[in-house]
Amino acid sequence: MAPQARDGRQPESAAGLDAATVVKEFYERYPYPRPIDDLDNYRRRWQDANRRRADFHLFWPHKPYTEERTILVAGCGTSQAAKHAVRCPAARVVGIDFSATSVRHTEDLKRKYDLRNLEVHQLPIDRIGDLKMTFDEIVCTGVLHHLANPGAALRSLRDVLDQDGAMHLMVYAPYGRAGIYILQEFCRGIGIQPSDVEIRDLVVALGALPARHPLARLLHDAPDFRQEAALADALLHPQDRAYSVPQLFDFIAGAGLTFSRWARQAPYSPHCGVMAQLPHTSRIVALEPVQQYAAAELFRGAMMSHSVIARRDDSPGRSQAISFYGEAWLDYVPVRVPDTLGIQERLPPGAAAVLINRAHTDTDIYLPIDASEKFLVDAIDGERSIGEITGDKPRDACRALFERLWWHDQVVFDGSSQINPV
Ligand SMILES: C[S@@+](CC[C@H](N)C(=O)[O-])C[C@H]1O[C@@H](n2cnc3c(N)ncnc32)[C@H](O)[C@@H]1O
Repeated sequence: MAPQARDGRQPESAAGLDAATVVKEFYERYPYPRPIDDLDNYRRRWQDANRRRADFHLFWPHKPYTEERTILVAGCGTSQAAKHAVRCPAARVVGIDFSATSVRHTEDLKRKYDLRNLEVHQLPIDRIGDLKMTFDEIVCTGVLHHLANPGAALRSLRDVLDQDGAMHLMVYAPYGRAGIYILQEFCRGIGIQPSDVEIRDLVVALGALPARHPLARLLHDAPDFRQEAALADALLHPQDRAYSVPQLFDFIAGAGLTFSRWARQAPYSPHCGVMAQLPHTSRIVALEPVQQYAAAELFRGAMMSHSVIARRDDSPGRSQAISFYGEAWLDYVPVRVPDTLGIQERLPPGAAAVLINRAHTDTDIYLPIDASEKFLVDAIDGERSIGEITGDKPRDACRALFERLWWHDQVVFDGSSQINPV
């Protein structure tokens, strides 16, 4: 099906079309993620109202919480759109994917779980405008890096994002995927094609990979990677590119979007973990944020993807980023992020607890707090503002604590009831 030129843009080139067809056929044969038919555990996890609220304020720190929104899951694969419909019953969820297999699996989940808030379309991203809808939230994870023209696709998504909407993007990152790119080249070089027999042989070959190979660590850390769908997606994909931090920022800006925050920001921060203790930390902190994040990516060296929240570059929410200048932060209501944990064993000297976020993979990212800080952290209830929690405690110390909690992905803020000046 030929894409139509809209809004003055050119249709995809013949080469682009061919590449899209190859990718489509690949996903019809090897749908990703591996199809599932049970969302019961997923539903139970998201019945936690705090989890839903923390997720909302990650995207919209300055809006009052609501579950009524329109969500587009672009390149939804086998289950992602159904998951969003399950976790957010009051939302209207639209899933699109150009693979018939992905759409069929999503339809199966829709039927099984009676998801009346979900509609699914077999549609390429660059034709999203055909639906004549706009969306509060767009989720596009693991997709754009497989496209012949990712910039045009991102622009199409931007065109259907509400002015105050938010987009969650995940794209591959280059340095942590070095081992994957080595093996991709190995497969290409000897002509390994995506077929069941070839994949079986590849699993055997990977079992014999030398322990020092850059891919060996990944195979060890992520046994799921040996599953057929994951293996094909990583090693035999006909089209795959990755974005370093500066490339990602250019990609976002080129589509008329602006960076809002990382889905998890601690690994990118010079204020967290080992990055905060380098002889160069003060030099890194003095850089512009994008250069700080780029330095973190290079220093950490193992990021495999970037997960980012972006908004339109004309969004009113742009100017409402979280800020610890002025007094406005006193009105923020801290909401605990799910998967955070306070550990109270084998503590460093002076610590009353060590806070971690189980979603972090970097083991150097943890936050020791002393007894007076723990008192304040324990008082976080998702209802009271920082000002109400801290009362007449010293301002600067309180600000530093809540800023650290935020950078370490321990809390998000509901800043919708702003009284103090920014
Ligand atoms: C790696 S899977 C990711 C699935 C899902 N987003 C997730 O994170 O679970 C990529 C999906 O994007 C779809 N896809 C790739 N290019 C597309 C395009 N141009 N238009 C629509 N869907 C596309 C594929 O069919 C596949 O189902």
